[in-house]
Amino acid sequence: MPFDRIFLDELSARNDIVEVVSQYVQLKKSGMNYFGLCPFHNEKTASFSVSPDKQIFHCFGCGAGGGVLTFVMKAEGLTFPDAVHFLAARAGIPVPAQGEADRQAARQRERLYALCKDAARFYYDTLWQPQSRAAQQYFLSRGLHRRTMNRFGLGYAPDSFHALLDAMTAKGYTREELQQAGLVSKSEKGHLYDRFRGRAMFPIIDVRGNVIAFGGRVLDDSKPKYLNSPETPIFHKSRNLFALNLSKTTKSDYFILAEGYMDVIALHQAGFDSAVASLGTALTEEQARIIARHTGRIVISYDADGAGQSAAQRAIDILKKCDLQVKVLKIPGAKDPDEFIKAKGADAFRNLIERSEDHNAYRLEQIAAKYDLEDDEARVLFLRDAARMLAGIDSSIEREVYAGRAAKMAGVTPEAMGVEVRREQNIRRKKRRAAERREIRSPIGLAQPKDRSLAYTDIRSAKAEENVLRLLFSDQKLIAGMETALPPVWFSAPVLRKIYERVLSLDRDGQIVDILSFEGWLEPNEMSLLSGILEPGLPPGEHRQELAEYIDTIRMQRIKDGTLTKAGEDPLLTFGRIKKTKRGRTMI
Ligand code: UTP
Ligand code: MN
Repeated sequence: MPFDRIFLDELSARNDIVEVVSQYVQLKKSGMNYFGLCPFHNEKTASFSVSPDKQIFHCFGCGAGGGVLTFVMKAEGLTFPDAVHFLAARAGIPVPAQGEADRQAARQRERLYALCKDAARFYYDTLWQPQSRAAQQYFLSRGLHRRTMNRFGLGYAPDSFHALLDAMTAKGYTREELQQAGLVSKSEKGHLYDRFRGRAMFPIIDVRGNVIAFGGRVLDDSKPKYLNSPETPIFHKSRNLFALNLSKTTKSDYFILAEGYMDVIALHQAGFDSAVASLGTALTEEQARIIARHTGRIVISYDADGAGQSAAQRAIDILKKCDLQVKVLKIPGAKDPDEFIKAKGADAFRNLIERSEDHNAYRLEQIAAKYDLEDDEARVLFLRDAARMLAGIDSSIEREVYAGRAAKMAGVTPEAMGVEVRREQNIRRKKRRAAERREIRSPIGLAQPKDRSLAYTDIRSAKAEENVLRLLFSDQKLIAGMETALPPVWFSAPVLRKIYERVLSLDRDGQIVDILSFEGWLEPNEMSLLSGILEPGLPPGEHRQELAEYIDTIRMQRIKDGTLTKAGEDPLLTFGRIKKTKRGRTMI
């Protein structure tokens, strides 16, 4: 564990989960637990619970869950170590010096930061050498000023398989470090070669000013147009935004969210110094939370094509979750902001921003565009469609305003529109209740993890495995002897086995087994699963018999699927024998 357990205990004692969560969610006590509206998904009925005695949170709606550190990681978009520092600062306690493993990881990261900076320097220097005229020409032809290029640290990767490799190893970086930084790739035969060759280079810089990755563009029409760094120890695509290092100091009270590197650079050059881009992926929730930390208002300025417009629709939902005021810009007569500014200039773009519409108006227009509003029948369909969208608006005032607008568009009275919207709201409510009921009634639906990537292949076994974990977490004394009674290889679900193995090893080392010892160690989706397993808790009492029965179930499943048989014994015979013993209650 990267942080000392005694310190983590102190940290968690000083940051009661109910108090911490209360700073983000209005909680109401009901029985042993507290309930509120989940901050991680949109909901109207409280399915988000916090358990003070287990110090966990869990949402029955979206499945998110974990301990206080996981909560802070999710709510603030922080890494585990940053969440530790965040809570330490909140409680006013110092973070102790970290262990050797951690110092080593920190040293490795420092080396990679230095390497990426040197690589950026190398690409920059290469760009301004006489033999890179084509690359210089390329940037200039795209309307970039020399000053802008320097501000963004643009460069050029020479068309060579080893230019960067040679230059960086000469500077003392190892081949491993080059690989870890994602700057070189390995061929099938095991040779290392430069990842970026013959490309215009865009350094990706984190909010603290470290170069952490690169995007490289071809100078012609070949494919792939852009090549990006892979995920590395210092680069997590979903947690970074291109140009945030520059935009964070803007005086503008809104941010502009664009799709591409070139859009952002063109925007900054034209004076819009609050433009960022989501690095060629769909905007992630983490990125949205980062944006929300810097501004309350955002203007989405995606490409005008279909892909850009549907990406905008998805981005609206994600940004709204973070309470951002969202507007959407329409770019007439150009494919993206870069092209528009080049053709029409900065003032014209400023005009677009001023006229950019609230996301609700934008959505209404997207819907209206599907229908011929001159036609009576189409108008009725438009009303339905619009009412469906309006019914999803949380604020009643906003809903009223846009219902009025939709009514005008379709040429009906606001009252008629209101009736339609309320009808849709009712349908929504009924659907939601039905879904909730279905989920509770269906054992399979409830049995499977919310995150499909963790899906169980053997539900019966996995449920018993979950129950074993719940028992072991609630009463650590039960762990003694488990290693032989239930070998980890008998587990059917890899994620549950991973948790079980850690439970065993923590116990072996005399450590406490609780949610805290898993924070920062499990992936967020795995943590959510674990919190869901622990949430129900256990009635007090003796649990050894129960545990024996779960182990028995797991063993039967392993015999059934043929993974477990005594040497030379027919699996079916073994199955029969075990059944008999079970009836005789002679297990364990
Ligand atoms: P675009 O194709 O719209 O890029 O993709 P652009 O910035 O407008 O490109 P040019 O240079 O003006 O022609 C938007 C973003 O998607 C990512 C990049 O981050 C790009 O800026 N992308 C696109 C990739 O990562 N790989 C690709 O092959 C293409
Ligand atoms: Mn584009």
